[in-house]
Amino acid sequence: MSQNQQRVVLTGFMGVGKSTVARHLSYLLRTEKIDLDEYIEKNEKRPIPDIIAKDGIEAFREIETNCLSRIIKRGTRIISLGGGAWLTEANRELVKSNGCTSVWLESTFEHCWRNISFSKKVRPLIKNRKQAKELFEERSRFYCLAEWHFIVNPGFNSFEIAKQISSEIFTS
Ligand code: S3P
Repeated sequence: MSQNQQRVVLTGFMGVGKSTVARHLSYLLRTEKIDLDEYIEKNEKRPIPDIIAKDGIEAFREIETNCLSRIIKRGTRIISLGGGAWLTEANRELVKSNGCTSVWLESTFEHCWRNISFSKKVRPLIKNRKQAKELFEERSRFYCLAEWHFIVNPGFNSFEIAKQISSEIFTS
C-alpha cells in the first residue's frame, strides 16, 4: 500500500494517550482523524458515561461498533479507539478487512493510571486502582492482537510518539 493510502487505528488501555497521539498524527500527516469516543458522543448527543449508565455496557458496545463501521467506511485515515473497542471481535475484523493498520500503544499500568488519575475524562468502567489494574492485565491478550506494538516510554512526549509512528508506518 502506498504511503498516501495507509490508514492507522490506535488502540491501547485507557490513559495511554491514544487521542493525543492521533491528534499529532493528523497534524503531521495533514489528514483528518476521528476519535471514536468523540464521534459516538456527537452522534448520540450525550456523554458516554450517560450511555453506559442508562443503556448498559452491551448497548454501548453496539453503538461503538456501528460508529466504528461508519468511520471506517468513510475512509478516515487516522482513528483512535476507546480502550474497550479493540476487545470486540467484530471491530477487529472491521479494522483488518478494510486495510487499516492496527497499532497498540503499549505502556505500563503505572503510566496509564497516572494519566487516568489526572485526566478530566470520566471513565465509568474504572472504579479504583486495584480494579483498573485487573482490567489492564485482562486486556493485554486482546491488545497484543494488534498488528503493530508501539512501546510508549513514560519519558516520551506524545508528539515524539506520533513522529515515530508516522515515520515507521507511513513511510514503510
Ligand atoms: C472504555 C474506554 C473509554 C471509553 C469508555 C469505555 C473502555 O475510552 O470508550 O469509557 O472500555 O476501556 P478511553 O480509552 O479513551 O478512556
